Order: sequence, then structure tokens, then C-alpha cells
Amino acid sequence: MDKIIIEGGNTRLQGEVTIEGAKNAVLPLLAATILPVEGKTVLKNVPILSDVFTMNHVVRGLNIAVDFDEALNQVTVDATGAILDTAPYEYVSQMRASIVVLGPILARNGHAKVSMPGGCTIGSRPIDLHLKGLEAMGASIHQEGGDISATAEKLKGAHFYMDFPSVGATQNLMMAATLAEGTTVLENVAREPEIVDLANLLNKMGARVSGAGTETLTIRGVAELHGAEHNVVQDRIEAGTFMVAAAMTSGNVLIKDAVWEHNRPLISKLREMGVDVREEEAGIRVKSDISKLKPVTVKTLPHPGFPTDMQAQFTALMAVVKGESTMIETVFENRFQHLEEMRRMGLHSEILRDTAMIHGGQRLQGAQVMSTDLRASAALILTGLVAQGQTKVGQLSHLDRGYYQFHEKLAQLGADIRRESED
Ligand code: EPZ
Repeated sequence: MDKIIIEGGNTRLQGEVTIEGAKNAVLPLLAATILPVEGKTVLKNVPILSDVFTMNHVVRGLNIAVDFDEALNQVTVDATGAILDTAPYEYVSQMRASIVVLGPILARNGHAKVSMPGGCTIGSRPIDLHLKGLEAMGASIHQEGGDISATAEKLKGAHFYMDFPSVGATQNLMMAATLAEGTTVLENVAREPEIVDLANLLNKMGARVSGAGTETLTIRGVAELHGAEHNVVQDRIEAGTFMVAAAMTSGNVLIKDAVWEHNRPLISKLREMGVDVREEEAGIRVKSDISKLKPVTVKTLPHPGFPTDMQAQFTALMAVVKGESTMIETVFENRFQHLEEMRRMGLHSEILRDTAMIHGGQRLQGAQVMSTDLRASAALILTGLVAQGQTKVGQLSHLDRGYYQFHEKLAQLGADIRRESED
């Protein structure tokens, strides 16, 4: 099992860092490549992440040609001809995001079978909104033996209001509606940049999606879609992770090609703390002096609120800022596990349901810690940068799902960090 080892305590990150295409954009984009009946779809700026390999296997399992040219960060998909109805269990079971292939397969074939995604450590992760939306479009859904079966001779345009602006449900339903008969209106949808990226690809394929990025999507069904070419949007969470890393270490870092517009809630909170965040020609520059930063209160919300995917990393920053900070996690029910591990490093915090009180500014000591999920891994590594002494972070399979060359990029910015296999 690999471990990341950090000698922390006097790290000051300086220099420039590049970020990759967004994991949470490319996964639904790969699902969308199932839809075209003819022509190839080429996705560029694809990050080299384990979740991308998994989704490639899911799509390949439908008898679709998928070629990932890692040297070019490019995936070429050709879904011409008949495709299968059933997504391969062995890969779907590895990644709950695979559920977004349900809508595209159903829209294309009239029948789809996908295994029920399990929960994960951050929450139960239900998919009731995905299923209710497909039923609203005329699908009949039943669950047997851990699989979900959806059938619809032809999906019909519908008007569906989402109880919660679920990212995955918005993506599934948007894709299903592209081939439905008539017009679908989806209300109270997710507004994340990754939703806009997916709508852009679908429209390049010949779909008619409008309203992406707002709370209402209108999709006018078309007869069929064709292949297209598309650049995956930059990863705002990777960018945000490096912005927080710079802020925690009194650093001065330029995050190249980061998109200001996609990180406004995070930038506003960093500025409220006293971090110097500026937009430059080449990206976003973050400078800070940790001794001058002030504690803040943050509440995670669907976009354009503060992103839950930045919550763990931001609590690491709160841990080093002197004073009482508060983090309220409203999106997932169990996303504070990293704080238990950070306690082993000397963090003082109390958790009461969705609220964590963080008593920042204590001297943190390096320790051996385990990561429980993707963003917790990043948060623990960042904490290791500022803790005195050696920190070892295990369970790196979580990290590899969402960060490409994470420790190499931190080393390039001046961190004393390495990755060793400890079999
Ligand atoms: C996406 O997950 C992201 N994953 C998550 O990123 C991200 O945290 C999440 O959106 C919220 O922004 C990908 O894009 C691959 P949701 P998703 O459906 O689509 C409830 C990361 O670290 N809900 O918006 O699964 C659900 O229980 C990952 O990169 C229902 O109740 O998120 C949760 O509390 C982690 N019923 C809330 O909505 C449903 O049918 C948000 O879930 C669907 C969701």
C-alpha cells in the first residue's frame, strides 16, 4: 500500500501550478458519449485519474469503442451501431457516479440496467430523484437483485421539479431528455459549472438544451445525436485545493488557467479571512501571511454556494488560523471524518450534527493518518504541510480518484513530500 510522507512545519508554497480537466465534468461527459448513433466524440483536456479509467470501462462494457490517449489527455469514443443495455457491474460497483449512464442508455435503447450504487463514507447517496425524473418522462423502473431496470418505448417530455438540486440527477435527466419526444422542463436543478459543460457538449452533439447554469433547464427532444469534439472544463476543486494550500502555508502561488468565475464562493471566503487572491492573465494568484488571517464561518451549499467538495480542505485552513471557525456541512450527512484524523495531529474541534467548531491556531504535530474519502485525503496532506514533523497518509486509492500527480505538484511548489510503497 502506498503512503504519502510529508516533513511539515515550515512549508511555504511558492511558484506556479497547473491544474487538470475536471473529474466531475469528464465523468458525465463520458456518459454523454453513449448518446450519438453515428460519428466519433473526442474529449480533450481529460485528466488521468482512476475514476476516468473506471468510466471508460463502463462505457466500453456497452460494446462502445473507447480509446484513451493519455499522452494527449484525449478520449475518443465511437458509439455507432447497436449498444448493450446493461452497464458492467464490476466497474459500476467501483464508482457510484456511474449511475449517470442510466439516462443515456435508456434514451438510446429504450431499456437500461445499471447496478444500484452503494452509499459511501460521506453519505447514503440515494438516487430517488434520478428515478422519479425518469418516471416523469414515462419510464417504468423496477429494482431487482441490486440492479435498477428502466424501460420506456420512447421517453416523453415532462415537467419535473427536483426536491433538491442534485448534480447527478440533473445530469442523468438532462441527457435522457435530449432524445425524448417533446420538451422537458427541469426545475430546481443543479447549477454547477460541470452542468454547463455537459449542456455545451450535448448541444454540440445536436441536442437543444437551454438554461444550463440557472435553476431551470429546458430540453427540446431531437431524433438523434451525432459525435462532437469538446474540451473538458478546468477542475475548480483541484484549483481550490491549491488555493487553500497556498493560504495555509503563507505562500505565494499562481494557479494557472484557474477560472475565477467558477470559484467565487471560495475566493470570497478566503478574502474574508484576509488572504490576498487576485486574478492574473495566466490564472489566480494566492498570497497570504497565516499570522494575519482571521477565523470565519462557512456553510456548504449547492452552487453558487460554497462547494461541499472544498469543505474538508477548508477545515485544514481553519485549523491553522488562530481563533474559532465554524464549518456547516449541509449537503452530505457524514463528511467530517477527516476531522477525527486531524485530531490525531492535535486539532481541537467539536462536531454537533452538521456543524464543526474548529479551534484554530493550535500547534499541530505530524502523525500517521488514514484517509476516508477523496477530499479528506487532500485535506490530511495539506494539514501535514503545516504540522511539525512527519505525517504519513495512507489509503491513497481515494486520492488517486481525483488528483493527478498531487504530491509531485506540491513538491514542485516547495513541499518536502514523497510517496512510498510500504508493502
Ligand atoms: C456530485 O455527486 C459530485 N460527484 C460530488 O463530488 C459532489 O460532492 C456532489 O455532486 C455535490 O456537489 C461527481 O460529480 C462525480 P448530488 P452527486 O446528487 O451527483 C442528495 C467529489 O469529491 N440526493 O448533488 O452524487 C444526496 O444524498 C465528489 O468529487 C438525494 O437525496 O451529488 C446528497 O445529500 C464527492 N437524492 C445531495 O443530494 C438523489 O436522487 C447531493 O448529492 C440524489 C442526491
